[in-house]
Amino acid sequence: MNLILLGGPGAGKGTQAKMMIEKYQIPQISTGDILRAAVKEGTELGKQAKACMDAGKLVPDEVVIGIIEDRLKQADCQKGFILDGFPRTVPQAEALDKTLQKMGSKIDHVLSIDVDEEELVKRLTGRRTCKQCGQMYHIIFSPPKKEGVCDKCGGELYQRDDDNEATVRSRLATYNQQTKPLIDYYSKQELVRQIKGVGSISDIFQKIVDTLR
Ligand code: AP5
Ligand code: MG
Repeated sequence: MNLILLGGPGAGKGTQAKMMIEKYQIPQISTGDILRAAVKEGTELGKQAKACMDAGKLVPDEVVIGIIEDRLKQADCQKGFILDGFPRTVPQAEALDKTLQKMGSKIDHVLSIDVDEEELVKRLTGRRTCKQCGQMYHIIFSPPKKEGVCDKCGGELYQRDDDNEATVRSRLATYNQQTKPLIDYYSKQELVRQIKGVGSISDIFQKIVDTLR
């Protein structure tokens, strides 16, 4: 099953993808996670990406398209994949369609997770992420058992550089201008499944499972 998770910053793409990996045994491909790893390693890609990410703007299309083309060729994607945070522009979606066509594959469903903007701001400014395994928490909505420590692996929790209010507002504007048009793009292909993204994390997961049944 080849899936795309579409939704604004903080909609819960990463949170739901992590639960879907276990249920469906297919990998999550998060361009945000790949770019953050490059920033941490200090590679050329990381240096180029950091300025865009800190400003809440998108990294150039050709950069992320190249990353995804390489990733989709890896063996673990043969059974399917969950794209989290890609595509984010119409040119990225067109490039993905072409790449999959060449591979004799296609997208099966696009899950569009809908959450209103003020809720997204609250979620992102309170998010904490594990340095070691990437698990997400929220200081109020889903706190770890012990403050600052990951329940899953004991790693240290940190706040992402782009999770401050000013950058969050800019990420929302970028989403509205450049990514929202993808709902139309995939509606024309009759692939969009709307998921209401408010409520408990497990209820939303159940809605996803029901939708994919
Ligand atoms: P990326 O890492 O993809 O960030 P994003 O799209 O802004 O999404 P987030 O990861 O912030 O949100 P999420 O939907 O995963 O929410 P989460 O599950 O963590 O991208 C970062 C940057 O990289 C971009 O700005 C751009 O610069 C660059 N980039 C990445 N991909 C790119 C591309 N394709 N092209 C160009 N540039 C690219 O949840 C958020 C919080 O809410 C957590 O605290 C969580 O605990 C909480 N939460 C989750 N669900 C619920 C719930 N139901 N109720 C209450 N709280 C909840
Ligand atoms: Mg995420």
